[in-house]
Amino acid sequence: MKSKIVLLLLVCWGAAAQAQTKLSTKKMKALVDESLRFSARQYKHMMKSLPDSLFPRSTNKDGSLMTAKFNWWTAGFYPGSCWYLYEYTKDDAFKKEAEKRQVYLLPDQYRTNTHDLGFLMYCSFGNGLRITGNAAYKDILMTSSRSLITRYKPTIEAIRSWDHPGWKCPVIIDNMMNLEMLAWATRNSGEPIFLNIAVNHANTTIKNHFRDDYSSYHVIDYDTTTGKVFAKKTHQGHSDASAWSRGQAWGLYGYTMMYRETKDPKYLDQAKHIADYMLNHPRMPKDLIPYYDYDAPEIPNAIRDASAGAVMSSALLELSKYVDKQDGKRYWNAGADALASLAGPAYRAKEGENNNFILMHSTGSMPGKSEIDVPLSYADYYFLEALLRYKNWAPR
Ligand code: GLY
Repeated sequence: MKSKIVLLLLVCWGAAAQAQTKLSTKKMKALVDESLRFSARQYKHMMKSLPDSLFPRSTNKDGSLMTAKFNWWTAGFYPGSCWYLYEYTKDDAFKKEAEKRQVYLLPDQYRTNTHDLGFLMYCSFGNGLRITGNAAYKDILMTSSRSLITRYKPTIEAIRSWDHPGWKCPVIIDNMMNLEMLAWATRNSGEPIFLNIAVNHANTTIKNHFRDDYSSYHVIDYDTTTGKVFAKKTHQGHSDASAWSRGQAWGLYGYTMMYRETKDPKYLDQAKHIADYMLNHPRMPKDLIPYYDYDAPEIPNAIRDASAGAVMSSALLELSKYVDKQDGKRYWNAGADALASLAGPAYRAKEGENNNFILMHSTGSMPGKSEIDVPLSYADYYFLEALLRYKNWAPR
């Protein structure tokens, strides 16, 4: 009985602690606008420094700008960020830059050797379509969606992620993010196959990727013949049994988006459980920007992952719209607090520094010893998305 009372008090205390944001709505709105203006200036510098036909990726070990070609999974984020900045500033320079860079992505629409087509094409052309209504982008997104569903494995009821050797049929939690384009493809064409595949993939992922505490494995390797789970592994997290932070954020974003697209309460439930796993985690730092893995042994000295914080912030702001008032306030406030941290001096670069990326302190792959404590183009993209979500959805 005594322990139940203590637990109840702790829950009430937790709820009370999240009833207030770090900044008032007025201050937060000012910070959001200032951050968007800063980001526009920073990406103008980026535009000037970026070689033709390439995409900004990160920072090299020698401090120089790391670029990517059209076929690297992150290539779509820079045009996507330019679309967001065009949406905010209405400055044609961002529209022209997004259009110019997107041309180089066109060959990706035919690729059947990657699951990253949602990241590549929907973040770029998808935003372009949403903002400009350019009908030519619809054909490109439909072709990309047809290419993506060639990777669907009916025995598993999921889309295969990688073709790398060493795996049978790997499906990574990140793949939830590619489903948004498939939902659009059904809406656009009226052909149910795209959304059906997205739903099957999301259901299979609920069944096999999540642990009892709603943390997720990074990679489930399936046996393609039987469709059964062969192994549960990590690729970018601390260990197979650990909770890789960006993976948790991809899952949160993915199920929030699947609820938006289907209104199936199962996805809302899943998103809430994932959000609560993160927000109640004893090793979630006070500034709500996760360590690269919730189980990193170096905590509290572990490296952070600002990209995980940005994806989480954007997803929490959206999730807050779909739940009851009390949970809505909790998720909105947590999303806003993480956003305020990212917009502060600990994570946001100074103008003209950081190879002209907006955010510092992201981590690509700790076990792969690659992209550790660096800027990453997708951290910037989801930060901009979260800023715009805050701006558009904050109480007037
Ligand atoms: N989708 C790959 C990553 O999150 O690093």
